[in-house]
Amino acid sequence: MGFETIDLTPRVGTQIETDVETLLSGSHAAQLRSLTESRGVLLIRGVVMDDEQQLAFTRTLGPVFDAGSGNVYKVTFDKRESPSLWEYNYGNFSWHIDRTDTDTPPFASILNAKRLAPEGGQTEFANTYAAYEDLPEEDKALIERLQVVHKLASSFKESIPDPTEAQLAKWSQHADKVHPLVWRHRSGRKSLITSTSATQIVGMDDAEGAALLARMMAWATRPEYVYVHEWQLGDILIWDNTGTMHRVRPYDLGAGRLLHRTTVVGDEPFDPSRELETA
Ligand SMILES: [Fe+2]
Repeated sequence: MGFETIDLTPRVGTQIETDVETLLSGSHAAQLRSLTESRGVLLIRGVVMDDEQQLAFTRTLGPVFDAGSGNVYKVTFDKRESPSLWEYNYGNFSWHIDRTDTDTPPFASILNAKRLAPEGGQTEFANTYAAYEDLPEEDKALIERLQVVHKLASSFKESIPDPTEAQLAKWSQHADKVHPLVWRHRSGRKSLITSTSATQIVGMDDAEGAALLARMMAWATRPEYVYVHEWQLGDILIWDNTGTMHRVRPYDLGAGRLLHRTTVVGDEPFDPSRELETA
């Protein structure tokens, strides 16, 4: 088989028609990386991949990230599959960029659907490049130099509104971070760093900052920037964690829904000027 691309919406999402051999060969790896960046999320359907193949495919795109539970991370509420990390999945119900508690987040992740819930559980992706590019000029000027505080606890404010002391203690082990609101990428393009982990804008009144963050979040998740993925078993999705946000729609947590995730290490810090400072 060859390698065909079909756009799923005008601004975000492309389906790739190909086969496992082509993916594992790495022959289209550079094109896939570039499509991931330009289209935000890629869907490969009708291809069966086990963990070994998924890891081999991920390696063609870049170095594989160890998620703390090995290289294949189980996205699930099934405690047998994910005994120590299942609780973090509550954060998945809110719009976010992965690992805003780090300076350099993963470049991309790959999800492989192993078990699905009978209803709900669609994964949504919002293109934060397109959202930035469409902002009115006065908003671009307003946010150009703003810095935003991110806290892991905030990632759970919608899904766990009344956390226990133990949960708060666990989340506080992750460092708070300050990131710019506008990501200046090496490519010269810019995207929004919006995420539910964002709590306040540095130097701005709390209420005013929260209102601006909420307005940017609402803008970035307008329907024209969002692709909603209706899962089928075996679907493989690749998303650009540096140019999209994602979240999952509600589903029955007892349904055993299970996605296997592998992740490509990132090489672009949220704040490129900080990279120069520490170089
Ligand atoms: Fe995530």
